[in-house]
Amino acid sequence: MDTPRPRLGILEFAESVLGIRPYQWQRKTLCHIEAGHPTALTACNGAGKTSTVLVAAALWCLFNWPRGRVIVTSASWSQLKKQFFDTIRLQARHPLFRSHTFNEAEVRTREGGFVIGLSVDEAGKAEGYHERPDSPVMILADEAKSIADDVFTSLLRCTATWRVYASSAGPACGAFYSCLTTFRNFWACVLVKSSECPHISQESIELDRAMWGEHSPQFRQKHLAEFTAEGDQDCVRLPPYDGVQDWNLRNRIEIRCALENEVHAQDFGSLLCAFVHGDIERIGRESWDQGNRIFLFGR
Ligand SMILES: Nc1ncnc2c1ncn2[C@@H]1O[C@H](COP(=O)(O)OP(=O)(O)OP(=O)(O)O)[C@@H](O)[C@H]1O
Ligand SMILES: [Mg+2]
Repeated sequence: MDTPRPRLGILEFAESVLGIRPYQWQRKTLCHIEAGHPTALTACNGAGKTSTVLVAAALWCLFNWPRGRVIVTSASWSQLKKQFFDTIRLQARHPLFRSHTFNEAEVRTREGGFVIGLSVDEAGKAEGYHERPDSPVMILADEAKSIADDVFTSLLRCTATWRVYASSAGPACGAFYSCLTTFRNFWACVLVKSSECPHISQESIELDRAMWGEHSPQFRQKHLAEFTAEGDQDCVRLPPYDGVQDWNLRNRIEIRCALENEVHAQDFGSLLCAFVHGDIERIGRESWDQGNRIFLFGR
């Protein structure tokens, strides 16, 4: 089936209907989606993949094709609900979407179209979605680097009008990584660094560079959107740190909360700085039990 022509283009929709002012890389990604190119978006953490690109694409599909079917999955069901569906629900009162029904993990149109969230277990069995002229199919996979290969195998059995896989970077393996490498010729690949996202402060980028080192997997994955191979330097020990004032409040609070909530028995009174082996946002009791290291630099 040829890629259908919308009554409103995706950029116009994002800007004039949703009120988004997309960055250059978001415009490029949205244009690839509109053109029907299978699109693999690798972007730094917090770039706007979920809330700006995927949500806009899903609503654009329903707006133009009220009988359209949008299947969205993510490595994490709770993130799918919290990030994708909480954001899409912000549009529930929009005059153009008033006739839609917004539920916890789905949006339904009066005409029978929908955006439906599938857990990876369900997506792994999702083979029955095939495009029809009156009801195109859009497949969105978020946090794609952490979705198991067999889920992608099932998703590929669906006949999709639009297919978008979005992710931050991670270890250099898996189905999403192969879209960017082995199967690169079949995908429109967009790679986005923190420096291309004006809402990510230069200060926070520099802080991470100083803390982890610019060649560390942590920095390369989080800010440069680079996949890193096993065996790359994965743990950098900071020199003793005596410049607490260099930390912006947000980072200090994040570290403190992560430690207080998930890891016990530290003396926060003397905490100057912490370094976590791994992604600070993912630190938990599990990472502690697995022997990941936390360095505290006390007074
Ligand atoms: N064009 C834009 N203009 C203003 N803010 C933006 C823009 N694009 C993204 N943002 C902001 O970026 C932030 C992060 O968005 P989002 O959660 O969608 O990122 P993400 O790439 O999915 O992050 P993660 O890596 O955690 O999954 C949001 O607060 C959003 O408002
Ligand atoms: Mg996201």
